[in-house]
Amino acid sequence: MKRVNSIYRHPLYQKKYNTLQKAEEHRRFCNHTLEHFLDVARLMYIYSMEHELSISKEVIYATAFMHDIGRIDQIEKNIPHEKAGAALCDIILPDCGFTKDEIGMIKEFIIHHRTKDTESYQPLYQMLYWADKKSRNCFACAMQAECNWNKEKMNLEIDY
Ligand SMILES: [Fe+2]
Repeated sequence: MKRVNSIYRHPLYQKKYNTLQKAEEHRRFCNHTLEHFLDVARLMYIYSMEHELSISKEVIYATAFMHDIGRIDQIEKNIPHEKAGAALCDIILPDCGFTKDEIGMIKEFIIHHRTKDTESYQPLYQMLYWADKKSRNCFACAMQAECNWNKEKMNLEIDY
């Protein structure tokens, strides 16, 4: 997982990550922390095994680590975070040794991760959307009543 560790240690990644943690320090809803990125990575890995998708573990973890890092640009510059995240992939991932094809796949996952569209997407493109939602413990969340997620998105039972 050398390349994944390089993402986390990348100076631009660290700068974006630390600024995001500061910006969300007092946020009462779900935060976008290292724990969230690791939960998403591990859930994506489960999904890839259950659906027998042949995607490398490093591509899965890179996707999870990059998928919400653009949220700081959404907060500061009003750029949708999936677009900001995809743009950051082009800067950070080549430095960490990811190939052009891998970066293209990771960006596709990130760009589509806010849309649930079971008609047009293969399991491949549902993976990040699913893992992102499943990672949240809504059943135990004090903010449930005020959350803007609809009941369909919420995890009201433990099943993963
Ligand atoms: Fe997320």
